[in-house]
Amino acid sequence: MKNSITEIMLREHKRIDAMIEEVEKTLPDFEKARQIFNKFKWNLEKHFFVEEKVIFSAYSSTTSNESEDIFTILKEHKDILWSMKKIEQSLSKNLQPNFSNIKKDLKDHVNFEDRIFYPRLDEELDDNLKEVMIDRAKEVIKE
Ligand SMILES: [Fe+2]
Ligand SMILES: [Fe+2]
Repeated sequence: MKNSITEIMLREHKRIDAMIEEVEKTLPDFEKARQIFNKFKWNLEKHFFVEEKVIFSAYSSTTSNESEDIFTILKEHKDILWSMKKIEQSLSKNLQPNFSNIKKDLKDHVNFEDRIFYPRLDEELDDNLKEVMIDRAKEVIKE
């Protein structure tokens, strides 16, 4: 499907994943790792903004399962941001951060969005609403 929400988000997820890998690889060069981490943080925050403010807020879920899914996704965003803060704190003190939590949480989260949540959204939404979401997402996500 051309220009689907799934496709845009999948590309974004890959980019975000590559950034956290790069932070980890760059250590023990803490100064450089902090620079890459800041890029990762900014991109992750923008990504969550697009998901929460552009997609979920315009999407009125039709079943209680969908509302529950959005609720779960929002909670996972909070957990991921919390792990991100922990890493930021370690990096600021030149201490080796623990990347395993954020990597696992991101992987599970992204798998659900890529395989289930966004494909379903692409299938269910009418084209006009989808177009609005994609246009707005693209204003935030520069490719
Ligand atoms: Fe998400
Ligand atoms: Fe996402």
